[in-house]
Amino acid sequence: MRLSANNRLNPLTLRHGTTYTPSRTSPPVRLFDDREDRSRERDPEPRSPWPLATRLQLLRNTLRPTPHVPLAMEGMNLFAKLEYVNPVGSIKDRAAYWILKRAAERGEICDETTVIESSSGNFAAALATFTHLVGLRFIPVIDPNISGTYESFLRRICPTVVKVEERDDTGGFLKTRLQMVKQLCATIPNAYWTNQYENRDAMEAHYELTGAEICAGFDALDYAFIGVGTAGTISGVSRRLKERYPNIRIIAVDTEGSVIFGGAPGKRHIPGVGSSIVPPLVSLARIDDVVLIPERETAEACRELLTTHGLFVGGSSGTAYAALKRYAPKMSGSRRPTVLFLCPDRGTPYLDTVFDDTWVTRLE
Ligand SMILES: Cc1ncc(COP(=O)(O)O)c(C=O)c1O
Repeated sequence: MRLSANNRLNPLTLRHGTTYTPSRTSPPVRLFDDREDRSRERDPEPRSPWPLATRLQLLRNTLRPTPHVPLAMEGMNLFAKLEYVNPVGSIKDRAAYWILKRAAERGEICDETTVIESSSGNFAAALATFTHLVGLRFIPVIDPNISGTYESFLRRICPTVVKVEERDDTGGFLKTRLQMVKQLCATIPNAYWTNQYENRDAMEAHYELTGAEICAGFDALDYAFIGVGTAGTISGVSRRLKERYPNIRIIAVDTEGSVIFGGAPGKRHIPGVGSSIVPPLVSLARIDDVVLIPERETAEACRELLTTHGLFVGGSSGTAYAALKRYAPKMSGSRRPTVLFLCPDRGTPYLDTVFDDTWVTRLE
């Protein structure tokens, strides 16, 4: 996005956030670490004269329709929707934009707001960028499993990054991160938790944006394979697609070790798809079937997408691709079905994991 030299005329004027310092009475929240760039603690620049909701609405121009591309596949007309073409690099840009916009329209956030969210990747990157563009402060709560790429990105753009170090009772970090979010919200004035796991605006984002785009791009659609993490994507997209294509089958894609669809909890290493909690939004999705994919198969599928189809995509794209290949024999009907799967992000943050041979051989 180009910002004009004359900030006063531009509704998206950047306003660098000041950093939060805990008061003497607040709990011992470690808000800064040694790598933090203190040079960004400067006086705020003049605020844009445009209301926050208007500044957020203008970000809509950065969310262009993402392409869907045909892939050669026996027995079906297969299309991949390339969500990594979104401005910050993932499908999460849509939810981040919409959640902030709707919160501003309802008056739930204002120029003094500090946005807080627990995220290990794409959602935090999107929030970091959009809040920065409209002059809001944002504190991402991350954990040691975050990819180095995302952590560097967040530390580059956010004055404050909180990293939890303690594992929760499931062996993961999600509960510790959520506890930290609640602690920050209780101590920081005008804090706003975007709460991606429960926020219905995430579903609305995918109904209005992702789902509407798919409907505009296809006259007919028989199957859609959609990875599930917070279930924002599948709840919004499935509802939109069922309205437009009444006979479509929505196949939810999850990973082994995730509890979303009642499976036993187990160790998972690839972010995006899967969860150690059942996300409330999943009950709003219109799902016909579920496919569970082991992580090793996800890695193989990511490599196949790269070497056979020329798509360098992240873990959850591979999971969806593996799922549709497994499901292919079950696709009944006399004609070739038209099948869509989503590619939520790029392969770059997965070079040290999914695309690393040594890492993959260590997977159970
Ligand atoms: C790469 C990637 N794929 C898929 C998903 C799942 O999307 P949702 O959270 O909307 O279920 C996410 C969510 O974080 C993601 O980051």
